[in-house]
Amino acid sequence: MSTKTNIQEAVPLSDSILFDIHKNYFRKNGIDSWKKNVPYYVTSHALFVNQVATLTFTYLIEAFYRGDITHDEPLYCLELGAGAGKFMYMFLNTLLPMLETSPLKDLSFIYIGSDFSENIVSYWDSHHQFQPFIKNGSLDFALYDAEKQQDIRLRKSGTLLKNLKNPLLVIANYVFDSLVHDAFHTNHGQLELSLAATYSKSDDYENNPEDLALSFSKKNIDTHYYKDTGLNRILTDYLTDHDSSTFLLPTGAVSCLNHVHGLSQKGAIVISHDKGHVEMESCIGITTPQFVTHGSISLMVNYDALCRYFGHKEGEGVMGDPVYGLKTCLIATGSTLFNFPLTKQALVQCVNTLPSDQFLGLKNLIDPIVKQLSTKDILAYLQFCMWDPKIVSHCTEPLLELIHTLTPSQILLLKKGLQSSERLIYDFSDDYYYFDLARVWHDLAHYEKSRDLYLHSMQVQEEDEFHWYNLALAYYKLGNHEKTKAALGEAKRVNPGYEAVDVLMKELKLD
Ligand SMILES: C[S@@+](CC[C@H](N)C(=O)[O-])C[C@H]1O[C@@H](n2cnc3c(N)ncnc32)[C@H](O)[C@@H]1O
Repeated sequence: MSTKTNIQEAVPLSDSILFDIHKNYFRKNGIDSWKKNVPYYVTSHALFVNQVATLTFTYLIEAFYRGDITHDEPLYCLELGAGAGKFMYMFLNTLLPMLETSPLKDLSFIYIGSDFSENIVSYWDSHHQFQPFIKNGSLDFALYDAEKQQDIRLRKSGTLLKNLKNPLLVIANYVFDSLVHDAFHTNHGQLELSLAATYSKSDDYENNPEDLALSFSKKNIDTHYYKDTGLNRILTDYLTDHDSSTFLLPTGAVSCLNHVHGLSQKGAIVISHDKGHVEMESCIGITTPQFVTHGSISLMVNYDALCRYFGHKEGEGVMGDPVYGLKTCLIATGSTLFNFPLTKQALVQCVNTLPSDQFLGLKNLIDPIVKQLSTKDILAYLQFCMWDPKIVSHCTEPLLELIHTLTPSQILLLKKGLQSSERLIYDFSDDYYYFDLARVWHDLAHYEKSRDLYLHSMQVQEEDEFHWYNLALAYYKLGNHEKTKAALGEAKRVNPGYEAVDVLMKELKLD
């Protein structure tokens, strides 16, 4: 259907049906959203996770030495809209070892995965890889709608987050972009509110948000538009400084951060990643707000406004460089960051030197040519990307080709890297990460390790002949001929036409 149907008359953007459609998308699809088309690798690859963990660690250490952290109660880290849970899993596996070997080793650190969808939260709650963290008390969950000023009660411990003595750490990856925003235009001294009318190319826009389109009209307003004087102050700033600009105000994010700020006596420290603007100049020339849909809905986050808002209060925000793409913003809602020079430096060094989406751009250049790389270059690439399981899996074939050329120190490096990689695999998608790790361990002559990984892989993957065949090889190397035969029999059962089994049986003289 190509004709457009008007599904909502012109309203302020924050009242747009668009945001309800977004929420319904996640409510309806729950954890399957990520198995459909919501992207998540950009905020859950090992390099990114390591950058955020290092930034968090630096802040915690600096806050500890300043006396801002008490051991009398836990330090909570709340992840908003944690989605598939992959970042959460990788982050815990990266940050906790850093804390364990630091002066904060005795601190009770509790990560809280939160989302507004019960389906998503209960998925994490029953995920087998989260059970050890739940058991040792380092992980809890909360059903929390970031647009509502509602209580945050932890699902496992029953604790209500309030009046905390430690600062509350908040992580928000790809969340603020889809909370409500308002849109404005400055027209040579006159402030205009953008009103959005919503159209759809199809009746099934709930399932196909990409069919939606907005049409904007404008209405003159003054700078006392909001009850919140902090937001009005930003309207005044922008009207004064910009003759003709369209800009968004992330009012949903502001309300959420005001809420989390109030949960702790020391306010919140927020690490946010989103596509967004870090200075108003990047908005100039844009006449209508831009939005994109990829299953869910995403608008550019105006980080400049968020930082001004908390900067005008008692806090401070620090932003990444004004490059296009994914931005990182660090906001202290209740204190300045003047006394946190190392944390600010960590933001520059760990995150801004290589923003996640730019890293993925480089990865896209390197991935097609890994077969042409030398052993040294492949190892350098894997080290650089912190042994991300997806990239290790991609490099498995060329690594196996070159494994005989490895020097003893390269073998040591590879083994350490394989162990790191395994710690980061989150059982969520259909990838063959354990299988590929097992192949490398096999060729490094660690047959028990490869056997265990094949067996584990078979628990999380659908059964196939390749797992059984490779497992048979591992059993053979371990001298267990009975199990070798049995595994080859299983390979044949799964795929009776799999001739490699007969060839191997002959070769190993097992038939
Ligand atoms: C684009 S996904 C990002 C998921 C994850 N943080 C990542 O980086 O892959 C947005 C997430 O925010 C959640 N979400 C959307 N609106 C929300 C709200 N009002 N409050 C809390 N979570 C929300 C969705 O359920 C989803 O998990």
